Amino acid sequence: MSTINCLDLKGQHQQIKKEVFELFEKVYENTAFSGGPFVEQFEKDFSNYTQTKYTIGVNNGTSALHLAMLALGIGAGDEVIIPANTFIATAWAISYVGATPVFVDCDKDNWEIDPVQIEKVITAKTKAIIGVHLYGMPFDIDAVLSIAKKHNLFLVEDAAQAQGARYKGITVGGFGEMACFSFYPGKNLGACGEAGGITTNNEVYQKHLNSLRNHGSMVRYYHDEVGFNMRMGGLEGASLQVKLKYLEGWNNRRREIAKMYHAGIKNTKIKMQTQPQWADSIYHLFVVTTDEKDKFVKHLQSNGVNPGFHYPVPCHLQKAYAHLNYKKGDFPHSEYLAAHCISLPMYAELTEEQVTRVIEAMNKF
Ligand SMILES: Cc1ncc(COP(=O)(O)O)c(C=O)c1O
Repeated sequence: MSTINCLDLKGQHQQIKKEVFELFEKVYENTAFSGGPFVEQFEKDFSNYTQTKYTIGVNNGTSALHLAMLALGIGAGDEVIIPANTFIATAWAISYVGATPVFVDCDKDNWEIDPVQIEKVITAKTKAIIGVHLYGMPFDIDAVLSIAKKHNLFLVEDAAQAQGARYKGITVGGFGEMACFSFYPGKNLGACGEAGGITTNNEVYQKHLNSLRNHGSMVRYYHDEVGFNMRMGGLEGASLQVKLKYLEGWNNRRREIAKMYHAGIKNTKIKMQTQPQWADSIYHLFVVTTDEKDKFVKHLQSNGVNPGFHYPVPCHLQKAYAHLNYKKGDFPHSEYLAAHCISLPMYAELTEEQVTRVIEAMNKF
């Protein structure tokens, strides 16, 4: 019995290898390795896909968030509100600019940032909220946006896991000041290499982000501010150009698999992320929880299913943030999720037989 892993990138890359290699050859012939026409074409395509005016391609999703903070003028003494249950990079971006991440709990059932908690932690120092479309499911953008507007705060979408997810029918990426995407290879839209991007409808931000990623320079060798080398590589841009054409199909296949999991898994020991009516998830991850996590993981493994864990420690309890003095019990829903989460296999190339095997293993426990 072959093991079904949480993620397997081989099938997808075999499928598109010829097309990707053909474009790689063009990058090579043009020696367009850093930024350049292949990145620019992808930026246009991605803006078209997300219905945003601008995309700024960068070297990874963490840089996208970092540059977003800089472009919004966030710095020392400022506070930025984020969910405690996110990948740590959301918090890093705030720390990189010398500001302080302020964590809030997630909703008990849909596991997205809880708007009710946000207002409780707003202070005179709060400058922004970064909402995370966790696991590929949009958070309640309207609710968060209305709090942001009321308190004059910026909203940034962390859409690292949500390329093509829709909120009330609209593709995410244009709801806040900016949205930050990761194109890490394992994402629904992942480069052959590291990459990220920022979408925005604001020309001032676009120009500034363009400069920041390129050594603070608009004109070669003239530097207006301290900048960074965070450009996207040409090979990455080319691979993303090819893959973007397949994204909708891959996302739809994930939606089908999620439907099969929802319909097929009948085990009362298992809890799933609820699907709010506003959300059309792209199921970057299919996470479930159970009180009997350790036993359950062993059971899955002995049935040839190899799950993942996203993420075992919430941000506020990470050693890196010990100085912020959060403690266990501060965010019960995020903590429960961290301690009990199991990510089931989820990628477009899973076969019906594999999905059935996962469902059977889940129900046998
Ligand atoms: C929610 C979230 N934010 C930010 C990032 C950072 O992206 P990258 O790994 O491309 O730097 C990730 C990547 O895993 C993520 O999942």
